[in-house]
Amino acid sequence: MLDLALENCRINQNIVNIGVKDGEIAKISKSPLKADKTINIKGKTILPGLIDAHVHLREPGYEYKENFRTGSMAAAHGGFTTILDMPNTKPETNTAREFKKKIKIASKKSIIDFGLHASIQKLKEIKKITPLKPASFKIFTEKTENHKISRILQILKGSKIPLTFHCEDPQIIKYCTRRLKNETNPESYSLARPSIAEEVATANALAFSHHYDHPIHICHVSSKKTLQLIKSIKAPVTCEITPHHLLLQKKDLKNAGAIAKTNPPLRPPKEAITVKDLKMIDIIASDHAPHTLKEKKENIWKAPPGIPNLEVTLKLLLTLNAKKRLKLAKIQEMLAEKPAKIFRLENKGQIKTGMDADFVIIDPKKTGKIKADEFYSKAHYTPFEGTEYIGEPVMTILRGKVIMKDNEIYDNKGSYVKSSHITLK
Ligand code: DOR
Ligand code: ZN
Ligand code: ZN
Repeated sequence: MLDLALENCRINQNIVNIGVKDGEIAKISKSPLKADKTINIKGKTILPGLIDAHVHLREPGYEYKENFRTGSMAAAHGGFTTILDMPNTKPETNTAREFKKKIKIASKKSIIDFGLHASIQKLKEIKKITPLKPASFKIFTEKTENHKISRILQILKGSKIPLTFHCEDPQIIKYCTRRLKNETNPESYSLARPSIAEEVATANALAFSHHYDHPIHICHVSSKKTLQLIKSIKAPVTCEITPHHLLLQKKDLKNAGAIAKTNPPLRPPKEAITVKDLKMIDIIASDHAPHTLKEKKENIWKAPPGIPNLEVTLKLLLTLNAKKRLKLAKIQEMLAEKPAKIFRLENKGQIKTGMDADFVIIDPKKTGKIKADEFYSKAHYTPFEGTEYIGEPVMTILRGKVIMKDNEIYDNKGSYVKSSHITLK
């Protein structure tokens, strides 16, 4: 007997019934299914639960900005069932001890499933962290010298664990920032960290991937030329874009001030990436990076960078779909299938028997305006405030359990998702 049957689900042009047993997809069938509980989806579109491969839920250390409860509620509200959390917490997630601690905290508080990226300080911790199955090791090129990147890749050899990069060249940033520090126009922030800083650092990262033949993942690509560089090399590299780098530009810094401040910054029209460029990009990730509104109200130089995106990403992408600029299949690929593949989340990312019963149900016709005061995130602001959207997630299901319905969140306990990369000996 099935635990749950989801009736009348739309997958592409087909209407199917999905049966769930023990949190997994047990059956996909055109004929009616018998189960303890039945939910009639009434022909709405169903996608695999979305995976956000890049979020900052700020715990431990910065709980005043966000924590695993509020951040995971925001994720469920936005249609995500799995998030991969970034390691720049306090302390950093750069030792096996801190990694285990974060699993413990998140297991208690997260309402959705989660994996973790690790960072690196002491090289000897790398081998101790790999048995804990991190999604990747993440480095900031601003803080990691080349000889260290070499050492890291030598240690990771054979593991295929991706090395994830935030690419911006520290020397270029330092020089440009110094020249612009007295400018008050928020748009100058974009020039303080020009796209050449990203391109140089990306070329450097690509050289490492090419030399060591090791998978690397480039976060939040902001410039078209960066993309062209990535595409020009034969190396095991994947890349990611955020909703803000896809849909906003430098001028939005003028409109929204530090609310639109992020690293790497938004770009002028000539350099910015557009929807047409998505064919060159592997995944979309929110880079949900919440701060307090008080912090964001500081001037453009002092305010911290980062935009809270978990609750706007899917709505914005569904709007592109409604306007026939982006296929639903592409959304599914970039927010479920590919993140699962790159970070090896074996039971996630597809609607197929044997996979986790994670779903997001979409009403493609529902319209509204983005309103940050409706966020479950602690960060009640967004540069997309007032943006009209078409299409929204109306139900989120994690391993057969409804965790969001019509914007209401239902309490739940998420689990740690191991990445099935090879462990180092
Ligand atoms: O805008 C950003 N915010 N870029 C980063 O690289 C870090 C992030 C954060 O943690 O706030
Ligand atoms: Zn980053
Ligand atoms: Zn980030």
